[in-house]
Amino acid sequence: MVEISTSILSVKKGEESKTFFALEASKTDYFHIDVMDGKFVEKNTYQTMLEYASYIRRISNAPLDVHLMVEDIKKAVDDFSAVEPNIITFHLEACKDEKEVMETINYIKQNNCKVGISVKPNTNIEEVYQYLPYIHMCLVMTVEPGKGGQSYLSEMTEKVRTLKKYIDENQLEIDIEVDGGINLKTAPEVKKAGANILVAGTAILNAVDYKVIIDELKCPIGDVSL
Ligand code: DX5
Ligand code: ZN
Repeated sequence: MVEISTSILSVKKGEESKTFFALEASKTDYFHIDVMDGKFVEKNTYQTMLEYASYIRRISNAPLDVHLMVEDIKKAVDDFSAVEPNIITFHLEACKDEKEVMETINYIKQNNCKVGISVKPNTNIEEVYQYLPYIHMCLVMTVEPGKGGQSYLSEMTEKVRTLKKYIDENQLEIDIEVDGGINLKTAPEVKKAGANILVAGTAILNAVDYKVIIDELKCPIGDVSL
């Protein structure tokens, strides 16, 4: 089953509350919270995302999918645990060694939260393999992290396919999430490659009807009329 995680990064100022209510009514499977610290990536969305996530937690039961693009992961886990996320994903590139990756996985689990690891476009997918038995999701970035509205990097389809093959061959039960440039054109190929959670920001927020676009993004492979 394919699920949709709506990124609220590009929500229009002044329309936050209206947008969050409409997304809730349209049954987004998750709210995707893009946390940026101004260090791991240039932009800083830290406080805004903390406010948005707390607000969404009050108005919706939909799970929060927190994507940390930060250097200080532990501090962000502490801060964002307050909004009771369903899953917290951190970047492999933000850890200095294997020990830190394992410590971070365990730290997130201690906060009663599922764990995801994300890889940037230039990171080889093989680098994440050793951690897969300990986590719930692998987030393959399909654009360079840092901002919304970028174009899908088509080379990432092969990366998703490779990861899916490895997961199946090793009988692991892990979600594959893709993030960046996902829309009605790019969704079919990435689903076919094996992704089962699609993050979409601008494609959903710019649509006339959130429910329609969410259903279209979800619909089974080959069922999309372009
Ligand atoms: C990029 C973020 C994404 C992104 C998604 O750093 O992780 O979640 O904003 O937005 P779109 O769908 O516009 O690419
Ligand atoms: Zn994201």
